[in-house]
Amino acid sequence: MRQTQPVWLDEESNCWHVFRYDDVNTAITDYQRFSSERRMQREAMATAGSPNKTPFTGRSIIAMDPPQHRQYRNLVTSAFTPRAIDKLRGRVTQITQELLDKVVANGSMDFADDIAYPLPTIVIAEMLGVPVSDRPLFQSWADGLLRRQLNDAEVFRPVEEQRNNPELQRLTRVFEEMSDYFERMLEERKREPRDDMMSALLQAEVDGQHLSMEDTISFCTLLLLAGHVTTTNLLSQAIRCFDEHPDTLTQLKKEPELMPSAIEEVLRYASPVWRLVRTTKEAVTLSGITIPQDATIFTWLSSANRDPQQFTEPERFDITRTPNKHVAFGHGIHFCIGAPLSRMEASVALPMILKQLPNMRVDRSGSQLFEGRFLFGFKHLPIT
Ligand code: HEM
Repeated sequence: MRQTQPVWLDEESNCWHVFRYDDVNTAITDYQRFSSERRMQREAMATAGSPNKTPFTGRSIIAMDPPQHRQYRNLVTSAFTPRAIDKLRGRVTQITQELLDKVVANGSMDFADDIAYPLPTIVIAEMLGVPVSDRPLFQSWADGLLRRQLNDAEVFRPVEEQRNNPELQRLTRVFEEMSDYFERMLEERKREPRDDMMSALLQAEVDGQHLSMEDTISFCTLLLLAGHVTTTNLLSQAIRCFDEHPDTLTQLKKEPELMPSAIEEVLRYASPVWRLVRTTKEAVTLSGITIPQDATIFTWLSSANRDPQQFTEPERFDITRTPNKHVAFGHGIHFCIGAPLSRMEASVALPMILKQLPNMRVDRSGSQLFEGRFLFGFKHLPIT
């Protein structure tokens, strides 16, 4: 597609797809012409029968444009500065060790279930202040929301056709469950503030006003979801890439200082978020094709990250690749807030895993991909 149809209109869904690195970069960076607001999806959810209290009705930074975006984003940036993240290093080491001890005691493991999923989930749950014991609940929400049940044509149907769409109604129910959960947690924090992000968000102000309950719930659900499933995919994909490239594994064992650049290469080669969505605010021309105003566009990060115009031998997994300007964390004003956190989690956990499980091999026959509408990783990754 990158070569023959770099900008392609899917006539069934009426959505545009953009595949080249330069075009993707333009679309995710130029917020003047490409909006992050999800107007259509919000309307579709509302039409599908959602009452007025779901995270979709609250505002979420990932779906905001300036100037509001900056005001809301600033509320959480201090929790994700390199210094703040560095303080969590010891806790991440401790959690990884506990998870490793458990799999060693069990004698078998599914890397996705036993390490890649619980590690980032425990970390973000502790940051937010939600009980780690509710992990099965978070997992059921993530599965319920992110697996690909509907194709683009179904999701992006005209709003008035969505009223009886059972899949959207199911999604709405998951949102409502998350919403009720966070509302309960936030009410508790209102009565008794603690040293966690939920309490901090309740104290936060934009233009001298506290956030509404809906907006606070939206923030919490975004952080919870974005904070765990993505890093889960990064960790699983790292193990898959190392397993498929044993020479890399040997090199990493000899030169552990290559781990940070190996993590960047995993992000490029097997991007955990494979596409983002934008809406055009005016007619725009990319690679010679004009996209009309108000069009929904999917920008394919996974394709941009393999564009030969940007990366030499893009199909080669090369842990020494420099420069490596991948767009796995996006680019511009929406650049992933959690990037320092997930990089730190991976850089702590992967060396410990490789050292303590030196002979592990992926059982490819048992592995199962998780292909969501936006995410790409493993549901199961058994290890022998
Ligand atoms: C935004 C990817 C981990 C929180 C983004 C975006 C991407 C991304 C591509 C840009 C969205 C856009 O432009 O529309 C990833 C990947 C991760 C990861 C690949 C792990 C490997 C995390 C973690 C958190 C997090 C650990 C922590 C809580 C967020 C938030 C945004 C975001 C809040 C919205 C930022 C904004 O709109 O200003 N992420 N993410 N992410 N990510 Fe991550």
